[in-house]
Amino acid sequence: MKKILVIGSVGQIGSEFTLDLRKIYGNENVIANGRKTKPSEKLLKSGPFEFFSATNKGDLEFYCKKYNIDTIVNMAAILSVVGEDKPMLAWDVNMNGLINVLEVARDMKMEQVLVPSSIAVFGPETPVNNTPQETILRPTTMYGVTKVAGELLGDYYVRKYGLDVRGLRYPGIISNETLPGGGTTDYAVAIYYEAIKNKKYTCFVKEDTQLPMMYMPDCIKATIDLMQADFSKLKHHSDFNVGAMSFTAGELAASIKKYIPEFEITYAPDHRQAIADSWPNSVDDSAAREEWGWRPAYDLDAMTQDMLKVLGEKHKKGLL
Ligand code: SER
Repeated sequence: MKKILVIGSVGQIGSEFTLDLRKIYGNENVIANGRKTKPSEKLLKSGPFEFFSATNKGDLEFYCKKYNIDTIVNMAAILSVVGEDKPMLAWDVNMNGLINVLEVARDMKMEQVLVPSSIAVFGPETPVNNTPQETILRPTTMYGVTKVAGELLGDYYVRKYGLDVRGLRYPGIISNETLPGGGTTDYAVAIYYEAIKNKKYTCFVKEDTQLPMMYMPDCIKATIDLMQADFSKLKHHSDFNVGAMSFTAGELAASIKKYIPEFEITYAPDHRQAIADSWPNSVDDSAAREEWGWRPAYDLDAMTQDMLKVLGEKHKKGLL
């Protein structure tokens, strides 16, 4: 039976992904970890939880041995905006945390390590439309720099040590359980919360800013599908492009207006605009489709309907 450690289980993706993983592999077989944020009751009550930072190799090793871990999913990361504010923290969490994960996994002969990457690996010189799998990786953010280095490190451990390392380049992830922690694509989440609460939103990127995005159920499906893929069939390892939908801020607002006609949006681009401008409009994910059968389920309107339904119910209960 698999024993999986999810590092960063309290974050936007980890908080939902860990619960789904527990449904598949059993509550006791999925150990949740956080660095400092208080976990939800759901996460705490459904299985083991340990507070530690993967940047401390001794702690990581201790808990991996305590639970006999054979698989690590490293969801911990400092995202693009916080990373520009605190570049050294981004380096520490994203790089030192990762090298510790890879070293402990190698040392303990683990079965698998999954480390998400991001569209932040791309930069202003990368082709923006249908960005290819193999392309120019010259990011301008510290987050992007650490994600490129992380992809290279993952592939290095596959080649040099035969360690099974996998990763996928998440686009902006939209969800309704835990807010994202300081990324450039956060407007695509905040807009739904504000549409429900105040029927208006001031967007920090321009109306025609287009980025690749994905709804949380597809993000979880992509991650689990990649974890379960046959390793021998993979030609890529740490850097799969995964697409789902791609829209401008204006198209996002128009989708919300279909269901909340009185919704109003204004645009006040700030320092995050330059980061958004350095990332692709859309990505070519044919490698993920061919090598492990990736297929997204949600488009923009399907996501909008679900987001507004879930957040509307939370709002009625006074939970927003
Ligand atoms: N959502 C991330 C960010 O905006 C991109 O992976 O930083």
